[in-house]
Amino acid sequence: MTKFAVNGKDFETNDPGDMPLLWALRDRLKMHGTKYGCGIGACGACTVIIDGQAVRSCQVPIANLEGKSITTIEGLAPAETPTAVQAAWVAEQVPQCGYCQSGMIMAVTALLARSPNPTDTEIDEAITNICRCGTYPRIRLAIHRAAGMSASAAPVAPATTEAGHE
Ligand code: FES
Ligand code: FES
Repeated sequence: MTKFAVNGKDFETNDPGDMPLLWALRDRLKMHGTKYGCGIGACGACTVIIDGQAVRSCQVPIANLEGKSITTIEGLAPAETPTAVQAAWVAEQVPQCGYCQSGMIMAVTALLARSPNPTDTEIDEAITNICRCGTYPRIRLAIHRAAGMSASAAPVAPATTEAGHE
């Protein structure tokens, strides 16, 4: 038995301890906002926040979660009262297909919680999620908007380069 909290609600599971958190979120809790992309910790689509840290949930076995507090995209805020990050995402019209965006928003939320006015270098180092649609310039604008800063024109650099990535 492993016990942890998801978006403020207690969750207990008897699933094997090596089951990734992403599976628990999507298959057990039916929270489908957290996405499966690569399954190897590379893309960031599955990012959630665990005790304040942005973490790739496909790489976290549930056995490591005893007593932890997890926040998913569903736990941020309702649409009527968005967080600064969510409001900035809307204002900058960031998403295209949207598949990567839950993970992006969670990673940015964790970044701004520890660094309220990040520099472009901090953004590049912290936000290593991959967006196949190439929304990096809008992501940078939205981060600066959320932080109350003026944005630079340079795009957020992806952590890795994929074929077809712009
Ligand atoms: S699905 Fe977890 S990092 Fe890609
Ligand atoms: S908006 Fe399509 S993958 Fe990022």
